[in-house]
Amino acid sequence: MKISFAEPDLPHSGAVVVGVWEGKALTPAASRIDEAAGGAIARALSAPSRFTGKKDQLLPILAPPKLSASRIVLAGLGKPESADSGSLQQLGGTLFAHLNAAGEEEATVMIDIGDTASVGPAEAAAEIAFGAQLRSYRFDKYKTKQKPEQKPSLTHLTVATSSANAAKRAYRPLEKTAAAVFLTRDLVSEPANVIYPETLATAAEGLTELGIEVETLDETKMRELGMNALLAVGQGSARPSRLVVMQWHGVESSDGARGRPLAFVGKGVTFDTGGISIKPAAGMGDMKWDMAGSAVVLGLLRLLAARKAAVNAVGIVGLVENMPSGTAQRPGDIVTSMSGQTIEVLNTDAEGRLVLADALWYCQQRFKPRLIIDLATLTGAVIVALGHHRAGLFSNNDELADRLIEAGKEVGEQVWRLPLADSYDREIDSDAADVKNIGGGRAAGSIIGAQFLQRFIDDVPWAHLDIAGTAWSTKDTATVPKGATAFGVRLLDRLVSQYYEKE
Ligand code: BES
Ligand code: MN
Ligand code: ZN
Repeated sequence: MKISFAEPDLPHSGAVVVGVWEGKALTPAASRIDEAAGGAIARALSAPSRFTGKKDQLLPILAPPKLSASRIVLAGLGKPESADSGSLQQLGGTLFAHLNAAGEEEATVMIDIGDTASVGPAEAAAEIAFGAQLRSYRFDKYKTKQKPEQKPSLTHLTVATSSANAAKRAYRPLEKTAAAVFLTRDLVSEPANVIYPETLATAAEGLTELGIEVETLDETKMRELGMNALLAVGQGSARPSRLVVMQWHGVESSDGARGRPLAFVGKGVTFDTGGISIKPAAGMGDMKWDMAGSAVVLGLLRLLAARKAAVNAVGIVGLVENMPSGTAQRPGDIVTSMSGQTIEVLNTDAEGRLVLADALWYCQQRFKPRLIIDLATLTGAVIVALGHHRAGLFSNNDELADRLIEAGKEVGEQVWRLPLADSYDREIDSDAADVKNIGGGRAAGSIIGAQFLQRFIDDVPWAHLDIAGTAWSTKDTATVPKGATAFGVRLLDRLVSQYYEKE
C-alpha cells in the first residue's frame, strides 16, 4: 500500500475519512466536507444510529452527488484529551481494515485533531499512517488461487494535513519500524521447511546490507567452544544448527560505558516437535513459530541499523531444529554446557532453555554487555498465567524491568513482571548433575524456565521475555492482523531510544 501526505484539499475520488469527537462535535475538516456535501454529515449524525464519536466507532455514509468522492467515513476520535500516538495508530489500523473490507481502492484521511491532543498535527498524521501500514501486513505468498475479492483492495492512502512536509518527516522512522516489524512477521510466518537454521542464518546475513556485521558459527565451531547444550537440541535433526552474531556499531566503542553493547539474545527453534519427549499432534504446526525470539532480534537489529541508532548493540540467535530421531538426545542425558555447568535433560521438550544457556553464556563472555535481554517462546505456562495480552518479564534488575514495563506501555506491547527467587531455583537442582532442565511438576512453569536461564547469567543486568503467548495471534487487533505479531521489536526499539541513546 502506498502512503502519502498532502495538504488538505477536497478529494476527487475514493473514500474520504473525517473525524468526529465524542459527543458528535465535528473537527474543522469534517465541517468543511459537511458544507461541501450540503450538510450530509450533520444529517447522518442526527439520524438514529449508535455512532456517538467514541474511539474506533466508524459510520460510513454515501457521498452526495455534489462530492466526487465515493463515500464519507465518519471516524470516532473519542475525547480530545485522550488522543495520543497509540490511539491514532489504532485509528489508522481500524480505518485500513474497514476501507479494505469495503473494497475501497483509495482513501483520503482528513483528520485534523488540532492542538487538543498530546501529539501535534504532523505527528498525528504520521501515526495514523503508521497504524494503517502495520495493519496492512499480509503473508499470502503461498496463496496461488486468491479471488479478486480476497485480495487487498486499498492500494493508496493519503493522509491530509496542513503540515504535509513535517508529517512526511515524522513518518520516516515509523516506516522503518514497520519494515523491521514486517521482516520479523515474515520470518515467523514462514513454515519450517523454508526457515530452518541455515536459511534463518542466511536471512541474518542479509542484514550486512544495512551495515550490520554478521558472523555465523557452524557446528564445528560451536563444538570447539563447548556449546554442548545447544548442540544437543539440534543433534536429532537432519538440519545442522547455527549460532548467528549480529553487531551494530552506532557509537565509538572506546566511548566508556556507552561503548559497551546492549545485547539481545533470541531463541531460534525453527521447529519444536518436543524431541523424544514428543508433543501431541494437535497444534504441533504452531511450533514453526518457536523461532519468534530470534526473528525479533533480527528485526530489532535491522531497525537499529536502518535508523542509525546511536548505540552499540549485539544480537545473538541460537538456531536449532528439535526433532526426534535415532541421533536425538534422550531424556536423562547429561550435557556439559559452555559455562561448564552440567545439565540433566529430563525433558527434551524443554529445549529453548538449553539453546539459550549457551547463547547467553557466549554473549556475556565475548561481549561483556551493559545489559542482556533474551526473548523466547519458552513456556506454554506463560499463556496460562497471562494469556495473549502480556508477555512474561523476569529480571535481576529493577531499573531494567521498570524501563521495559514503561516502554511496553508506550508502544502497546505490554509486559508483566513475574518473580525470581531462590525457593524456585532449588526446584531445578539435579540429583545427577548441576542443574536439571525441568522442575518437579507443572507448577510455576514459566518461573522455573526463567530460573534455569538465570543459572547462566553472570553479574549483568538481565531480562528475560517469555513471548510464547504474544508472538502469534489468532485474532486481528487494530494494528496487528492475526498471525505473527513481531511482539518485542517495537518494545525493545523504544527501550533503546528512550534510555540508552540520549546519555
Ligand atoms: N516452545 C515451547 C513453548 C510453547 C508452547 C511456545 C506453546 C508457544 C506455544 C517450549 O519449548 C516447550 O515445549 N515448553 C514446555 C516446557 C516443559 C516441558 C517444562 C512446555 O511449555 O510445555
Ligand atoms: Mn519445547
Ligand atoms: Zn520450544
